[in-house]
Amino acid sequence: MRPTSLSVTEGLDLSGTTVLITGATSGIGRECARVLALRGARVLIACRNVEKAERMLTEWRAAYGPAMSDRCEPRACDTASMISVQGLVDGLRKDGLAIDRLFLNAGVFAMPRQITSEGFEYTLAANYLGHFLMLHCLATAGILAGAARIVVTLSESAHKNPFSRADVAMIAKNPPVSSAQMFSSPNSKVLLALMMGEFLRRAAHSKLSAIKFNAVDPGPTLTDNVNQGSRVQQMLGRTFGPMLLKKVDEGAAPLLWAATSEAAAAMSGRLFTAVGKEARLPAKCVDADVGAIVWTTSELALGLLPLAN
Ligand SMILES: NC(=O)c1ccc[n+]([C@@H]2O[C@H](COP(=O)([O-])OP(=O)(O)OC[C@H]3O[C@@H](n4cnc5c(N)ncnc54)[C@H](OP(=O)(O)O)[C@@H]3O)[C@@H](O)[C@H]2O)c1
Repeated sequence: MRPTSLSVTEGLDLSGTTVLITGATSGIGRECARVLALRGARVLIACRNVEKAERMLTEWRAAYGPAMSDRCEPRACDTASMISVQGLVDGLRKDGLAIDRLFLNAGVFAMPRQITSEGFEYTLAANYLGHFLMLHCLATAGILAGAARIVVTLSESAHKNPFSRADVAMIAKNPPVSSAQMFSSPNSKVLLALMMGEFLRRAAHSKLSAIKFNAVDPGPTLTDNVNQGSRVQQMLGRTFGPMLLKKVDEGAAPLLWAATSEAAAAMSGRLFTAVGKEARLPAKCVDADVGAIVWTTSELALGLLPLAN
Protein backbone atom coordinates (compact mmCIF):
# COMPACT_ATOMS: atom_id res chain seq x y z
CA MET A 1 0.00 0.00 0.00
CA ARG A 2 1.29 3.48 -0.88
CA PRO A 3 1.76 6.07 1.87
CA THR A 4 -1.05 8.60 2.05
CA SER A 5 -1.30 12.23 3.13
CA LEU A 6 -2.71 11.10 6.47
CA SER A 7 -0.20 8.30 7.06
CA VAL A 8 2.90 10.45 6.41
CA THR A 9 1.68 13.16 8.79
CA GLU A 10 0.38 10.87 11.50
CA GLY A 11 1.18 12.19 14.96
CA LEU A 12 2.34 15.60 13.72
CA ASP A 13 1.19 18.63 15.66
CA LEU A 14 1.65 21.65 13.43
CA SER A 15 -0.14 24.14 15.64
CA GLY A 16 1.75 27.42 15.66
CA THR A 17 3.03 26.97 12.11
CA THR A 18 1.87 28.91 9.09
CA VAL A 19 1.73 27.34 5.65
CA LEU A 20 1.29 29.00 2.26
CA ILE A 21 0.20 26.81 -0.67
CA THR A 22 -0.34 27.80 -4.28
CA GLY A 23 -2.84 25.75 -6.26
CA ALA A 24 -4.59 24.81 -3.03
CA THR A 25 -8.15 24.82 -4.39
CA SER A 26 -7.75 21.63 -6.35
CA GLY A 27 -5.95 18.32 -6.58
CA ILE A 28 -2.65 17.78 -4.81
CA GLY A 29 -2.43 21.29 -3.33
CA ARG A 30 -5.94 21.06 -1.92
CA GLU A 31 -5.12 17.72 -0.30
CA CYS A 32 -1.95 19.16 1.25
CA ALA A 33 -3.96 22.11 2.60
CA ARG A 34 -6.64 19.85 4.05
CA VAL A 35 -4.25 17.57 5.88
CA LEU A 36 -1.98 20.33 7.16
CA ALA A 37 -5.03 22.12 8.60
CA LEU A 38 -6.19 18.84 10.17
CA ARG A 39 -2.73 18.59 11.77
CA GLY A 40 -3.17 22.04 13.31
CA ALA A 41 -1.38 24.38 10.91
CA ARG A 42 -2.70 27.75 9.86
CA VAL A 43 -3.05 27.36 6.09
CA LEU A 44 -3.04 30.27 3.67
CA ILE A 45 -4.82 29.13 0.53
CA ALA A 46 -3.21 31.11 -2.29
CA CYS A 47 -5.85 30.96 -5.02
CA ARG A 48 -6.85 32.60 -8.26
CA ASN A 49 -10.52 32.03 -7.49
CA VAL A 50 -11.49 33.13 -3.99
CA GLU A 51 -15.13 32.00 -4.38
CA LYS A 52 -13.89 28.48 -5.16
CA ALA A 53 -11.77 28.57 -2.01
CA GLU A 54 -14.74 29.77 0.05
CA ARG A 55 -16.84 26.88 -1.28
CA MET A 56 -14.06 24.45 -0.34
CA LEU A 57 -13.91 25.86 3.18
CA THR A 58 -17.69 25.55 3.53
CA GLU A 59 -17.34 21.84 2.65
CA TRP A 60 -14.53 21.44 5.16
CA ARG A 61 -16.50 23.22 7.86
CA ALA A 62 -19.30 20.68 7.38
CA ALA A 63 -16.90 17.72 7.24
CA TYR A 64 -14.31 18.61 9.89
CA GLY A 65 -15.86 21.38 11.97
CA PRO A 66 -15.15 25.09 12.36
CA ALA A 67 -11.85 24.78 14.23
CA MET A 68 -10.22 23.11 11.22
CA SER A 69 -11.79 25.30 8.53
CA ASP A 70 -11.14 28.48 10.51
CA ARG A 71 -7.43 27.70 10.37
CA CYS A 72 -7.63 28.10 6.57
CA GLU A 73 -7.67 31.47 4.92
CA PRO A 74 -8.04 32.23 1.21
CA ARG A 75 -5.51 34.71 -0.13
CA ALA A 76 -6.06 35.94 -3.69
CA CYS A 77 -3.13 35.14 -5.93
CA ASP A 78 -3.01 34.47 -9.64
CA THR A 79 0.50 33.14 -10.19
CA ALA A 80 0.35 34.20 -13.85
CA SER A 81 -0.04 37.84 -12.75
CA MET A 82 2.99 39.48 -11.19
CA ILE A 83 0.83 42.27 -9.75
CA SER A 84 -1.33 39.66 -8.07
CA VAL A 85 1.70 37.85 -6.60
CA GLN A 86 3.07 41.17 -5.36
CA GLY A 87 -0.33 41.90 -3.80
CA LEU A 88 -0.24 38.60 -1.93
CA VAL A 89 3.23 39.33 -0.56
CA ASP A 90 2.24 42.89 0.43
CA GLY A 91 -0.75 41.48 2.33
CA LEU A 92 1.41 38.98 4.19
CA ARG A 93 3.87 41.72 5.10
CA LYS A 94 1.09 44.01 6.31
CA ASP A 95 -0.30 41.21 8.48
CA GLY A 96 3.14 40.53 9.96
CA LEU A 97 3.07 36.87 8.96
CA ALA A 98 6.03 34.49 8.85
CA ILE A 99 5.77 31.46 6.55
CA ASP A 100 7.08 28.18 7.99
CA ARG A 101 6.12 25.95 5.04
CA LEU A 102 5.82 27.12 1.46
CA PHE A 103 4.40 24.93 -1.31
CA LEU A 104 5.06 26.23 -4.82
CA ASN A 105 2.55 23.92 -6.42
CA ALA A 106 0.13 25.62 -8.84
CA GLY A 107 0.56 24.51 -12.40
CA VAL A 108 -1.03 24.27 -15.82
CA PHE A 109 -0.10 22.33 -18.91
CA ALA A 110 -0.96 22.04 -22.58
CA MET A 111 -2.22 25.61 -22.80
CA PRO A 112 -2.20 27.33 -26.20
CA ARG A 113 0.18 30.29 -26.47
CA GLN A 114 -1.24 33.29 -24.69
CA ILE A 115 0.47 36.49 -23.59
CA THR A 116 -0.60 37.96 -20.24
CA SER A 117 -1.48 41.65 -19.91
CA GLU A 118 1.99 42.07 -18.36
CA GLY A 119 3.59 40.64 -21.51
CA PHE A 120 4.67 37.19 -20.32
CA GLU A 121 3.85 33.84 -21.90
CA TYR A 122 1.00 32.48 -19.77
CA THR A 123 2.20 28.96 -18.92
CA LEU A 124 5.68 30.16 -18.06
CA ALA A 125 4.22 32.94 -15.91
CA ALA A 126 1.73 30.70 -14.08
CA ASN A 127 4.13 27.81 -13.46
CA TYR A 128 7.50 29.50 -13.05
CA LEU A 129 7.68 33.28 -13.04
CA GLY A 130 4.95 33.89 -10.46
CA HIS A 131 6.58 31.37 -8.13
CA PHE A 132 10.00 32.92 -8.70
CA LEU A 133 8.62 36.35 -7.80
CA MET A 134 6.83 34.96 -4.74
CA LEU A 135 9.95 33.21 -3.45
CA HIS A 136 12.14 36.23 -4.12
CA CYS A 137 9.81 38.71 -2.43
CA LEU A 138 9.12 36.47 0.57
CA ALA A 139 12.85 35.98 1.07
CA THR A 140 13.76 39.63 0.56
CA ALA A 141 10.99 40.91 2.82
CA GLY A 142 11.92 38.50 5.62
CA ILE A 143 8.52 36.79 5.45
CA LEU A 144 10.05 33.31 5.16
CA ALA A 145 10.78 31.98 8.64
CA GLY A 146 14.46 31.35 9.35
CA ALA A 147 13.94 27.59 9.34
CA ALA A 148 11.26 27.52 6.63
CA ARG A 149 10.70 24.42 4.51
CA ILE A 150 9.93 24.90 0.82
CA VAL A 151 8.56 22.32 -1.58
CA VAL A 152 8.23 22.85 -5.30
CA THR A 153 6.07 20.53 -7.38
CA LEU A 154 7.87 19.28 -10.46
CA SER A 155 6.84 16.53 -12.84
CA GLU A 156 8.46 13.92 -15.00
CA SER A 157 9.06 16.77 -17.43
CA ALA A 158 12.00 17.92 -15.35
CA HIS A 159 13.84 14.66 -14.91
CA LYS A 160 12.59 12.24 -17.57
CA ASN A 161 11.54 14.28 -20.59
CA PRO A 162 14.54 14.42 -22.94
CA PHE A 163 13.10 17.43 -24.79
CA SER A 164 12.53 19.81 -21.88
CA ARG A 165 15.16 22.50 -21.37
CA ALA A 166 15.96 25.77 -19.65
CA ASP A 167 14.41 28.06 -22.23
CA VAL A 168 15.86 31.36 -20.97
CA ALA A 169 14.64 33.30 -24.02
CA MET A 170 11.08 32.82 -22.78
CA ILE A 171 11.80 34.70 -19.52
CA ALA A 172 11.06 38.05 -21.07
CA LYS A 173 8.21 40.31 -22.00
CA ASN A 174 6.77 39.52 -25.42
CA PRO A 175 8.98 36.46 -25.83
CA PRO A 176 9.69 35.02 -29.27
CA VAL A 177 6.95 32.91 -30.79
CA SER A 178 8.33 29.51 -29.93
CA SER A 179 7.74 26.58 -32.20
CA ALA A 180 7.76 24.55 -29.01
CA GLN A 181 4.78 26.04 -27.13
CA MET A 182 3.94 22.46 -26.21
CA PHE A 183 7.14 22.48 -24.14
CA SER A 184 6.32 25.59 -22.14
CA SER A 185 5.01 23.52 -19.24
CA PRO A 186 7.87 20.95 -19.21
CA ASN A 187 10.39 23.77 -19.62
CA SER A 188 8.87 25.67 -16.70
CA LYS A 189 9.51 22.63 -14.48
CA VAL A 190 13.18 22.68 -15.53
CA LEU A 191 13.33 26.37 -14.61
CA LEU A 192 11.76 25.64 -11.20
CA ALA A 193 14.43 23.00 -10.51
CA LEU A 194 17.18 25.46 -11.46
CA MET A 195 15.51 28.08 -9.25
CA MET A 196 15.70 25.71 -6.28
CA GLY A 197 19.41 25.11 -6.80
CA GLU A 198 20.27 28.76 -7.25
CA PHE A 199 18.16 29.83 -4.27
CA LEU A 200 20.03 27.39 -2.04
CA ARG A 201 23.40 28.58 -3.37
CA ARG A 202 22.48 32.21 -2.69
CA ALA A 203 20.96 31.40 0.68
CA ALA A 204 23.96 29.38 1.85
CA HIS A 205 25.90 32.29 3.34
CA SER A 206 23.00 34.51 4.33
CA LYS A 207 20.32 34.65 6.99
CA LEU A 208 18.33 32.26 4.78
CA SER A 209 20.91 29.49 5.20
CA ALA A 210 18.76 27.29 7.47
CA ILE A 211 15.94 27.08 4.92
CA LYS A 212 15.37 23.63 3.43
CA PHE A 213 14.08 23.32 -0.11
CA ASN A 214 13.07 20.14 -1.91
CA ALA A 215 11.41 19.25 -5.19
CA VAL A 216 8.76 16.59 -5.58
CA ASP A 217 7.38 14.85 -8.63
CA PRO A 218 4.15 13.38 -7.27
CA GLY A 219 3.83 11.02 -10.22
CA PRO A 220 0.68 10.48 -12.30
CA THR A 221 -2.19 11.37 -9.96
CA LEU A 222 -5.92 11.63 -10.55
CA THR A 223 -6.74 15.34 -10.18
CA ASP A 224 -8.39 18.11 -12.21
CA ASN A 225 -5.28 17.77 -14.34
CA VAL A 226 -7.28 15.32 -16.45
CA ASN A 227 -9.41 18.24 -17.63
CA GLN A 228 -6.39 19.85 -19.27
CA GLY A 229 -4.63 18.92 -22.48
CA SER A 230 -6.00 17.82 -25.83
CA ARG A 231 -9.42 16.18 -26.13
CA VAL A 232 -7.74 12.80 -26.54
CA GLN A 233 -5.58 13.35 -23.43
CA GLN A 234 -8.68 14.36 -21.45
CA MET A 235 -10.68 11.38 -22.69
CA LEU A 236 -7.87 8.95 -21.84
CA GLY A 237 -7.34 10.58 -18.44
CA ARG A 238 -11.00 10.42 -17.45
CA THR A 239 -11.49 6.88 -18.74
CA PHE A 240 -8.36 5.17 -17.47
CA GLY A 241 -7.28 7.60 -14.75
CA PRO A 242 -9.35 6.08 -11.95
CA MET A 243 -7.76 2.68 -12.64
CA LEU A 244 -4.19 3.71 -13.40
CA LEU A 245 -3.39 6.91 -11.52
CA LYS A 246 -2.53 7.49 -7.88
CA LYS A 247 -5.34 8.72 -5.68
CA VAL A 248 -4.94 12.32 -4.66
CA ASP A 249 -4.02 11.47 -1.07
CA GLU A 250 -1.24 9.26 -2.43
CA GLY A 251 -0.02 11.96 -4.82
CA ALA A 252 0.08 14.53 -2.00
CA ALA A 253 1.95 12.25 0.40
CA PRO A 254 5.50 12.89 -0.92
CA LEU A 255 4.96 16.67 -0.81
CA LEU A 256 3.82 16.51 2.79
CA TRP A 257 6.69 14.21 3.67
CA ALA A 258 9.18 16.55 1.97
CA ALA A 259 7.80 19.52 3.91
CA THR A 260 7.68 17.94 7.34
CA SER A 261 10.08 15.02 7.80
CA GLU A 262 13.57 15.20 9.27
CA ALA A 263 14.77 12.79 6.59
CA ALA A 264 13.81 15.19 3.80
CA ALA A 265 15.26 18.16 5.70
CA ALA A 266 18.59 16.35 5.78
CA MET A 267 18.47 16.07 1.99
CA SER A 268 17.72 19.67 1.02
CA GLY A 269 17.99 20.44 -2.69
CA ARG A 270 16.96 16.96 -3.81
CA LEU A 271 14.07 15.64 -5.88
CA PHE A 272 11.73 12.97 -4.54
CA THR A 273 9.34 10.90 -6.60
CA ALA A 274 7.78 9.12 -3.64
CA VAL A 275 8.06 9.15 0.13
CA GLY A 276 11.76 8.57 0.87
CA LYS A 277 12.55 7.90 -2.77
CA GLU A 278 15.05 10.22 -4.39
CA ALA A 279 15.40 10.64 -8.13
CA ARG A 280 18.46 12.21 -9.64
CA LEU A 281 17.90 15.58 -11.28
CA PRO A 282 19.53 15.64 -14.71
CA ALA A 283 22.39 18.02 -15.53
CA LYS A 284 20.01 20.46 -17.27
CA CYS A 285 18.23 21.01 -13.93
CA VAL A 286 21.28 21.42 -11.68
CA ASP A 287 23.86 23.24 -13.79
CA ALA A 288 25.04 26.07 -11.49
CA ASP A 289 26.02 28.36 -14.39
CA VAL A 290 22.65 27.95 -16.07
CA GLY A 291 20.95 28.35 -12.67
CA ALA A 292 22.68 31.69 -12.17
CA ILE A 293 21.71 32.85 -15.67
CA VAL A 294 18.08 31.80 -15.17
CA TRP A 295 17.96 33.52 -11.79
CA THR A 296 19.48 36.80 -13.03
CA THR A 297 17.36 36.78 -16.19
CA SER A 298 14.25 36.34 -14.04
CA GLU A 299 15.26 39.18 -11.71
CA LEU A 300 15.86 41.47 -14.69
CA ALA A 301 12.57 40.50 -16.36
CA LEU A 302 10.72 41.34 -13.15
CA GLY A 303 12.74 44.44 -12.27
CA LEU A 304 13.98 42.94 -8.99
CA LEU A 305 17.13 43.84 -7.13
CA PRO A 306 19.48 40.86 -6.83
CA LEU A 307 18.94 38.47 -3.94
CA ALA A 308 22.19 38.24 -1.98
CA ASN A 309 24.79 35.89 -3.39
N1 LIG B 1 -1.69 15.20 -11.41
C1 LIG B 1 -0.56 14.72 -11.93
O1 LIG B 1 -0.54 13.63 -12.53
C2 LIG B 1 0.72 15.48 -11.76
C3 LIG B 1 1.92 14.82 -12.06
C4 LIG B 1 3.11 15.51 -11.92
C5 LIG B 1 3.10 16.84 -11.50
N2 LIG B 1 1.91 17.45 -11.21
C6 LIG B 1 1.96 18.85 -10.76
O2 LIG B 1 1.22 18.97 -9.57
C7 LIG B 1 0.80 20.33 -9.41
C8 LIG B 1 -0.65 20.33 -8.99
O3 LIG B 1 -1.42 19.80 -10.05
P1 LIG B 1 -2.70 18.90 -9.85
O4 LIG B 1 -2.44 17.60 -10.48
O5 LIG B 1 -3.14 18.96 -8.44
O6 LIG B 1 -3.72 19.64 -10.83
P2 LIG B 1 -5.00 20.52 -10.56
O7 LIG B 1 -5.99 19.74 -9.80
O8 LIG B 1 -5.37 21.02 -11.92
O9 LIG B 1 -4.47 21.71 -9.65
C9 LIG B 1 -3.73 22.79 -10.18
C10 LIG B 1 -3.90 23.94 -9.24
O10 LIG B 1 -3.14 25.05 -9.75
C11 LIG B 1 -3.97 26.20 -9.73
N3 LIG B 1 -3.56 27.17 -10.74
C12 LIG B 1 -3.39 26.97 -12.06
N4 LIG B 1 -3.07 28.13 -12.65
C13 LIG B 1 -3.03 29.06 -11.68
C14 LIG B 1 -2.78 30.45 -11.66
N5 LIG B 1 -2.51 31.14 -12.78
N6 LIG B 1 -2.83 31.10 -10.48
C15 LIG B 1 -3.12 30.44 -9.33
N7 LIG B 1 -3.38 29.13 -9.29
C16 LIG B 1 -3.34 28.45 -10.46
C17 LIG B 1 -5.36 25.67 -9.99
O11 LIG B 1 -6.32 26.63 -9.57
P3 LIG B 1 -7.93 26.38 -9.76
O12 LIG B 1 -8.32 25.52 -8.59
O13 LIG B 1 -8.48 27.76 -9.71
O14 LIG B 1 -8.11 25.68 -11.07
C18 LIG B 1 -5.36 24.41 -9.15
O15 LIG B 1 -5.68 24.72 -7.80
C19 LIG B 1 1.07 21.01 -10.73
O16 LIG B 1 2.23 21.80 -10.62
C20 LIG B 1 1.32 19.85 -11.69
O17 LIG B 1 2.20 20.21 -12.74
C21 LIG B 1 0.73 16.80 -11.33
